[in-house]
Amino acid sequence: MKNILVIQGGGRVRGNTAQLVGSFVRGAEESGHAVEVVSLLTHEVKGCLGCNACRYGKPCVQKDAFNSIVSRIEAADCLVFASPLYFWTVSSRMKAFIERFYCIAREDPAPPLGRYEKYPQKDCALLMTAADNYFWTFEQAVSYYQFALVNYIGFHDRGVLLAGGCGDTDGKPQIDRTPHLQRAFEFGRQLYS
Ligand SMILES: Cc1cc2nc3c(=O)[nH]c(=O)nc-3n(C[C@H](O)[C@H](O)[C@H](O)COP(=O)(O)O)c2cc1C
Repeated sequence: MKNILVIQGGGRVRGNTAQLVGSFVRGAEESGHAVEVVSLLTHEVKGCLGCNACRYGKPCVQKDAFNSIVSRIEAADCLVFASPLYFWTVSSRMKAFIERFYCIAREDPAPPLGRYEKYPQKDCALLMTAADNYFWTFEQAVSYYQFALVNYIGFHDRGVLLAGGCGDTDGKPQIDRTPHLQRAFEFGRQLYS
């Protein structure tokens, strides 16, 4: 049994992304995992200010929801980043959330090549929805996930689920007309099998 924390980086309240997350959660729970979802719609997290107070032993100067999420990040075995595709990358809410990882970094006296600091060891996964479904639709978002979260922070990738062709936001969510909800259920169910 693993502790899985899903960060939902916005999207409509009952939209494609929320439905994708719901299916993933049902699959992961069916396999016996404990899953918690934190929505960045209800937990406002601002981007990093770059003040570096955290590098001098002080807590983050920003008093927003991130501070209440830190203990959940620490307790999680796996962080699942879920976002709609906005202008070909993750939402600004998700980007702001990831920037705040700066304050949970620890000094690393001998960092591996390309790293400056130490982060907690976690698994991670990416769930995304989009209107379009070209071969390049998710390229920037997946590249950001790979560079920032896997290559740099050092999380261990458990997989990526890209749900293209869900319709744009000028209409009802259409993900229920696609195979993506079943795919997300299976992805959650088999995350650790
Ligand atoms: C501000 C904004 C930007 C978007 N940018 C893109 C985009 O670059 N490519 C794309 O395929 N869809 C884009 N979309 C469509 C959404 O990614 C898509 O409808 C998504 O499934 C919406 O998620 P939701 O139903 O959870 O709100 C955009 C939608 C909005 C509101």
